[in-house]
Amino acid sequence: MLEIKNVSHKYGKFLALKDLSFTVGDGEFVGLIGPNGAGKTTLLNILNGILAPTQGTVLLDGDTVGGFKPKVRFKLGYMPSEMSTYEMFSPLELLNFLSAMYSVPEDEAKEKTDFLFEKLEMNDWKNKSIKKLSTGMKKKTAFAASIIHSPSMLILDEPFESVDPISQHSMRLIMEDLVSNGCSIIMSSHILDQVQSVCSRYIILNKGEIAKEYNKADLDGTSLENEFIELVEKLNLNGNSDEE
Ligand SMILES: Nc1ncnc2c1ncn2[C@@H]1O[C@H](COP(=O)(O)OP(=O)(O)OP(=O)(O)O)[C@@H](O)[C@H]1O
Ligand SMILES: [Mg+2]
Repeated sequence: MLEIKNVSHKYGKFLALKDLSFTVGDGEFVGLIGPNGAGKTTLLNILNGILAPTQGTVLLDGDTVGGFKPKVRFKLGYMPSEMSTYEMFSPLELLNFLSAMYSVPEDEAKEKTDFLFEKLEMNDWKNKSIKKLSTGMKKKTAFAASIIHSPSMLILDEPFESVDPISQHSMRLIMEDLVSNGCSIIMSSHILDQVQSVCSRYIILNKGEIAKEYNKADLDGTSLENEFIELVEKLNLNGNSDEE
């Protein structure tokens, strides 16, 4: 279980996250949605331990997230919204490198790597350097890299953006399979019909605050996109006033 307790984050004087508290239970699939600049990436970076919050704590199965703690690190999978590292590697080299780093047994790593490249239609590109790949192909590489070590807590920042519909479908099936095997996922996305169909819970973040949460059943027959637009427009009617 991931516990977010009173997390705030400031960039200089700007308060990007304001006292957030919620949990992601085992096997839960949470969709984090919000307008540009709402704080989603900031929050996901904190949950992954690469950004220290200015206030508050994040616990994964009772252990504080942050710093280099192999016990915590190995449970986490993270897909950033933009992949800017490992550009000299090919996708195959990256997955082999990560498998070795996470001590995934060789035969299991090979089976998983072959499976992911096949399902994500990457076989023709797996040996090219990442920097030469298309945007969607980079996203799929980052997705494969985030799950190669079978994390129990997967953090995905805009996984579907720029990915073609066939690969989006494969990614969705892989995510659903992970969740049915007990993995928890928190995912940000602007593609709200995908979020509504795949997630079990939705959190709307607006100006660094949780504006509303829904369980899937709460929206039976109602579109998440319509709810989102109506709520966010209402909340932000007063322009940029951050002080309320
Ligand atoms: N390194 C930084 N330094 C200063 N301000 C930052 C930094 N990173 C983000 N911010 C600010 O924090 C706020 C939240 O940014 P964040 O990237 O978390 O939003 P987001 O919800 O992920 O947006 P998007 O939907 O566009 O990806 C924005 O106002 C942004 O300008
Ligand atoms: Mg973002």
